[in-house]
Amino acid sequence: MVRSPGKQKSTKLVILCVVLLGFGLIADYLWASSPHFASSSYLTNWVPADNSQSNVIIPKQEPHHADTKPPKIKADGVHDRTLSATFADLPAPELKWEKMANAPVPRLDGAAIQIKDLLYVFAGYGTIDLVHSHVDIYNFTANTWGRRFDMPKEMAHSHLGMVTDGRYIYVVTGQYGPQCRGPTARNFVLDTKTKQWRDLPPLPVPRYAPATQLWRGRLHVMGGSKENRHTPALEHWSLAVKDGKALEKEWRPEIPIPRGGPHRACVVVSDRLLIIGGQEGDFMAKPGSPIFKCSRRNEIVYDEVHMLDDEMKWKPLPPMPKPDSHIEFAWAIVNNSIVIAGGTTEKHPTTKKMVLVGEVFRFNLDTLTWSVIGKLPYRVKTTLVGFWNGWLYFTSGQRDRGPDDPAPKKVIADMWRTKLRLNS
Ligand SMILES: *[C@@H]1O[C@H](CO)[C@@H](O)[C@H](O)[C@H]1NC(C)=O
Ligand SMILES: *[C@@H]1O[C@H](CO)[C@@H](O)[C@H](O)[C@H]1NC(C)=O
Repeated sequence: MVRSPGKQKSTKLVILCVVLLGFGLIADYLWASSPHFASSSYLTNWVPADNSQSNVIIPKQEPHHADTKPPKIKADGVHDRTLSATFADLPAPELKWEKMANAPVPRLDGAAIQIKDLLYVFAGYGTIDLVHSHVDIYNFTANTWGRRFDMPKEMAHSHLGMVTDGRYIYVVTGQYGPQCRGPTARNFVLDTKTKQWRDLPPLPVPRYAPATQLWRGRLHVMGGSKENRHTPALEHWSLAVKDGKALEKEWRPEIPIPRGGPHRACVVVSDRLLIIGGQEGDFMAKPGSPIFKCSRRNEIVYDEVHMLDDEMKWKPLPPMPKPDSHIEFAWAIVNNSIVIAGGTTEKHPTTKKMVLVGEVFRFNLDTLTWSVIGKLPYRVKTTLVGFWNGWLYFTSGQRDRGPDDPAPKKVIADMWRTKLRLNS
């Protein structure tokens, strides 16, 4: 049998392809079994690190920060415990914290809206397998938790977008159910006077933890993660709303955000819309898992701040003192400053574990400068913040393992407050 040269060539090509594919699979396997995947810190302890079955390939991207060097190894081989600023706690003045009444339930990835002296606290995970479907209310004057009431059955349980006009609370999209389940596009409005819920037109497609604000009579929803919980979305939509009602039937496309992803703070102040921090990537459901078991994926946390003003163009503002995410309800406006408590920063360079943030940041809108104005009682992410009568409050979220270990552990119900004094 004589083979034609053409056939030989194609046989070589097939062999080459097989070899390349083999390398690809080995590389994928090595990547999947590397600590990037293996260390799971989403609701730690509840999610065993078992991602070796995963066949989803997430391109590995390096943090864009120049200061994310691995820790120095001393001559004696002992790791230098001082980490670069991105991971380490920043120097911060001490604040005196007062422990208040615990929330009725611990919650992670819930949402909160302050209206006058009331903090409405919504939804959230109690454990990785249990999500809340009710609202708790804290009264800052009485310093007590009031009676709870139910959310609509179809409303998302975590990763919600939420904003208020002072009476109506607009609730958009989010994750429906426990673990790493899919999102819903359903949106709702709560009338806080009557405790009545109403429907709003659904989003064109659902999102996880999108930046959400009311601006110039329109409800704006931007970014977040796409339907797989991981892929950053850049889309931006708006809907005209008034007194808890949609004035339009459909969402209108707006200028996309410069960087996508979930868990950022979104603030409207002095008629400007700001997006602060956030991340690209998030845990996602393990392929084929009947319970949508969460598995960790690569995340990039950023410090970027962008602003939308009259020109409807995104403009960069000075970045945060360190990359910070999981801060969507962790901010308050105090005397023309934005105050932000806690969050998560870039993963630890050696352990690859998630690193929580324990600082209180201030962005002074008069000077457009950032500063660190204090330390929290511990590092905590997705905490829910309010400000009343000179006191900064925070409740809920997931705290660290202890002063020496910034990785996430316990989901908390704690409520704390500190008397805030901002120097001009
Ligand atoms: C909060 O509690 C105070 C003190 O009990 C009460 O006077 C006030 O009406 C409450 N606020 C609201 C909005 O219910
Ligand atoms: C905000 O400004 C007012 C007026 O200058 C001042 O009395 C108050 O203490 C300031 N609040 C904080 C938290 O610094």
